[in-house]
Amino acid sequence: MGVAKKIRVGMVGYRFMGKAHSHAYRDLPFYFDTEVEPVLQAVAGRNEVEVKVAADKMGWASYETDWKRLIERKDIDLIDIVTPNNTHAEIAIAAAEAGKHVICEKPLAMNLEQAQRMLHAVRKNNVVHMICHNYRFAPAVQFAKKLIQEGRLGKIYHIRATYLQDWIMDPNFPLVWRLRKEVTGSGTHGDIAAHILDLARFLVGEFDEVVGMMETFIKERPIGEMTGGLNAKLEAGSKGKVDVDDTSAFLARFKSGALGVFEATRFAGGNRNGNRFEINGEKGSIRWDLENMNNLQVYLADDEPGLQGFRTINCTEEHHPFAGAYWPAGHIIGYEHTFINLMKELMNGISRGYSPNPNFEDGVRNQAVLEAVEKSVETRSWVKLEQMSLAKNY
Ligand SMILES: NC(=O)c1ccc[n+]([C@@H]2O[C@H](COP(=O)([O-])OP(=O)(O)OC[C@H]3O[C@@H](n4cnc5c(N)ncnc54)[C@H](O)[C@@H]3O)[C@@H](O)[C@H]2O)c1
Repeated sequence: MGVAKKIRVGMVGYRFMGKAHSHAYRDLPFYFDTEVEPVLQAVAGRNEVEVKVAADKMGWASYETDWKRLIERKDIDLIDIVTPNNTHAEIAIAAAEAGKHVICEKPLAMNLEQAQRMLHAVRKNNVVHMICHNYRFAPAVQFAKKLIQEGRLGKIYHIRATYLQDWIMDPNFPLVWRLRKEVTGSGTHGDIAAHILDLARFLVGEFDEVVGMMETFIKERPIGEMTGGLNAKLEAGSKGKVDVDDTSAFLARFKSGALGVFEATRFAGGNRNGNRFEINGEKGSIRWDLENMNNLQVYLADDEPGLQGFRTINCTEEHHPFAGAYWPAGHIIGYEHTFINLMKELMNGISRGYSPNPNFEDGVRNQAVLEAVEKSVETRSWVKLEQMSLAKNY
């Protein structure tokens, strides 16, 4: 095995996703032999004291207090964007213009127009790009994809997917950036419906039309800010208006003729991170639940009568994509490994000169579905994806 070329990463932001991405870069060479390896070169944040602490704790060699400086640095090859959604477009476009490869957290942007500009910039500057829809990279989800591609489920009829959380049900939970439209774009919709619609695109295919509804249950909250993970602290004093959705639900028809039912909410008490789907085809069905992420439930209609039913496949065998890099069968993996697997794809893409899926094109298509649902809510009607201002060549 030769010595892998180093890809020097510059990461903007350093909290929840900053921790997940830092860990993935550090652990990647431990499990996978990739042609290029990430180096934690520099992290950027606005508060010098805090960014220095983060750099030391997470293993970054240096830090900057302005992301623009990170992009100017000659010793950075890849910019990783783990900041709130209103910053993604400006950082990604500047990075692409400077010839840096880019990985960006989801949702790609605040709206479809921004997302399309980001895609244009990475294409024009010929840099490698990815969006961090990490749930695709659970071995059980990859195995589901393999079964579908092999035709084991036959024609797909249905997908029903939910993403159920409950972390803002307390009316005193503060008005953090995730609840402010000018920073986040949309609420639950862009945050977690984006994930299940990405899984649907990955497993079932492209959307044709959607109709949705959204609601904001708690319309005013005390001011506060995120402190890492999904935790937050209150700031003394005033209250502010919540101007994004607390829940989003929509129906969809896919180009293949399949039907989809989607529900994303932060008001499903008792559900901490219920990212789940069930897919039904003419020859079988599959079910997956993030909170039990190593398992895939599989029903095959050609099983012997009397023995039919959902079986539980623990996707930790070498036959299951990515699983062989970790532990012996049955020795389970977790949330953080989805990021390691995604970063492995990114390193392969950089080494071989292509943008692995999900990339900014997937980000644009995702944003188009998000925006179509929003349009449908405004107009109280079905919206065709082709009605969205998605340029024909995307
Ligand atoms: N893939 C996933 O499953 C997943 C999970 C959570 C969050 N996300 C996405 O990751 C992104 C970041 O979310 P998070 O949960 O890590 O947020 P967070 O609040 O935990 O961290 C945000 C970071 O960005 C920094 N920041 C904020 N504004 C900035 C600015 N203008 N310039 C520079 N730095 C700035 C903050 O200091 C902080 O370090 C969001 O786009 C979010 O949607 C993805």
